[in-house]
Amino acid sequence: MTDDRTSPGHGGTLVGVGVGPGDPELLTRRALRVLASADRVVAPTLSPHEVGRAESIVRAAMPQLPVHRVVFDMTPDGEAQRKASHRKAARALLPWLGAGAQVAFVTLGDPNIYSTFSALVTALRELGWRGTTSTVPGITAFQALASQAGTVLLDGAESLSLVTAVDGTATLERALEDPERAIVVYKGGRHLPAIARLLEAHGRLEGAVLGERLGLAGEHVEMIGTSSVGEASYLATVIVPCRRDARATADPEPDERTQ
Ligand SMILES: C[S@@+](CC[C@H](N)C(=O)[O-])C[C@H]1O[C@@H](n2cnc3c(N)ncnc32)[C@H](O)[C@@H]1O
Repeated sequence: MTDDRTSPGHGGTLVGVGVGPGDPELLTRRALRVLASADRVVAPTLSPHEVGRAESIVRAAMPQLPVHRVVFDMTPDGEAQRKASHRKAARALLPWLGAGAQVAFVTLGDPNIYSTFSALVTALRELGWRGTTSTVPGITAFQALASQAGTVLLDGAESLSLVTAVDGTATLERALEDPERAIVVYKGGRHLPAIARLLEAHGRLEGAVLGERLGLAGEHVEMIGTSSVGEASYLATVIVPCRRDARATADPEPDERTQ
């Protein structure tokens, strides 16, 4: 049996770099600087021959930059397979990190929101790596969608729930109990018809919008109506604005409006 803890190295830096949802113009200046100065830029992919989405964004912005692919099994059946996939990816980075390199790992949107970056760091720690990590924030898919759809996501004292529908719509149903809460649904493409029916049942179709493949080829943005909605791909985000009519709106203090 091999011991994963042999020479994992204590040096090296791993930076999770958010590259935004798709449009290379949404890469931040900090992201561009960190990518340009990293010893290695690494991108997740499903297969070594496939350009992953984060890599495609980096390639569009920095065509000359060498990008190394690390394979992640994104559709494993269970926790054990998922962990094994993360551990395999972590092992691929260990030689570079162990040699003291600064490795930039690019990830869609923001690296601290549902990103493989955190799972990768966990796997590296489990392998005994003790180097340092940091992140470069990225623009999220829901920010890009709000901008594109002209949706004011939050105002005044309103709140937001960010939920996933990866395992169905139960979490969304709980969030819908509060009409004053705006909701963003990630990973809900497969369940879109069920999501639309739920929104209608809760009187929340008004202003609800779907954004698919934002900033990428095949981008599609539409208001959600129960009749029009079919299943969407994995890269689908839904924004459900809060019911502003459900609230007795007191006039805001004048200074609240100046920010
Ligand atoms: C693993 S999460 C990544 C979230 C990402 N870290 C972020 O900050 O936005 C994947 C989910 O993000 C959303 N997403 C990411 N990129 C998107 C895009 N270009 N268009 C629409 N939705 C996107 C989708 O809901 C997708 O199922």
